[in-house]
Amino acid sequence: MIIAIDGPAASGKGTISKKLAQHFALPHMDTGLLYRAVGYAMRDDLDRPDWEKLAIEKAQSLELSHYHEDDLTTAEAGVAASKVARVPEVRTALREVQIAFAQQEDGAILDGRDIGTRICPDADVKLYITADAETRAERRTKQLNARGVDVTFDEILAQIEKRDADDKDNPAGAFYVAPDAHLLDTTKLSIEAAFQAALELVNDVL
Ligand code: C5P
Repeated sequence: MIIAIDGPAASGKGTISKKLAQHFALPHMDTGLLYRAVGYAMRDDLDRPDWEKLAIEKAQSLELSHYHEDDLTTAEAGVAASKVARVPEVRTALREVQIAFAQQEDGAILDGRDIGTRICPDADVKLYITADAETRAERRTKQLNARGVDVTFDEILAQIEKRDADDKDNPAGAFYVAPDAHLLDTTKLSIEAAFQAALELVNDVL
């Protein structure tokens, strides 16, 4: 069984994916981490004239286990991820890693931006998780503040809106909602309610 979960930053897709993975005992890949790792590895080189070439090399030789999750989940790594995600060859290199992960015997859950459209177009279930930008910024600010990161709601909202805009016109292939994806708006839902709603959608299809 392959479950494809897409949606914008801080929509709740990561939390829902982890809970579904636990529920169905399936391996889970947060594909945003792959782009974040390349972005983080490039953090001091993004202004170089040859940054795209370097980013492609980093993507082609990526070892995700070499990175600490706390370094990858910062707002800066998110912005850098969104920049490297615009390079077609970076997407090609990371696509292979994702497809290999999806081909495990019992199936897998992958979350990202183009799982249901380009990585696993034949997934058994596709969910598109969304929430309004203010709610997403509020969640992300709380998460980061709880970890001791000193950021304000306004800074995070601006970053989220910029990332939404950049992702929307990604020249390497704009993200869109798969026509057969089930939409789930988590704006007014608690984590538990959002998970239950997602579980119901998956169970309906199985
Ligand atoms: O999901 P997350 O916020 O961690 O993703 C970080 C960035 O990586 C996104 O803003 C997007 O530009 C890129 N990304 C992507 N394709 C994916 C997952 C993430 O281009 N499947």
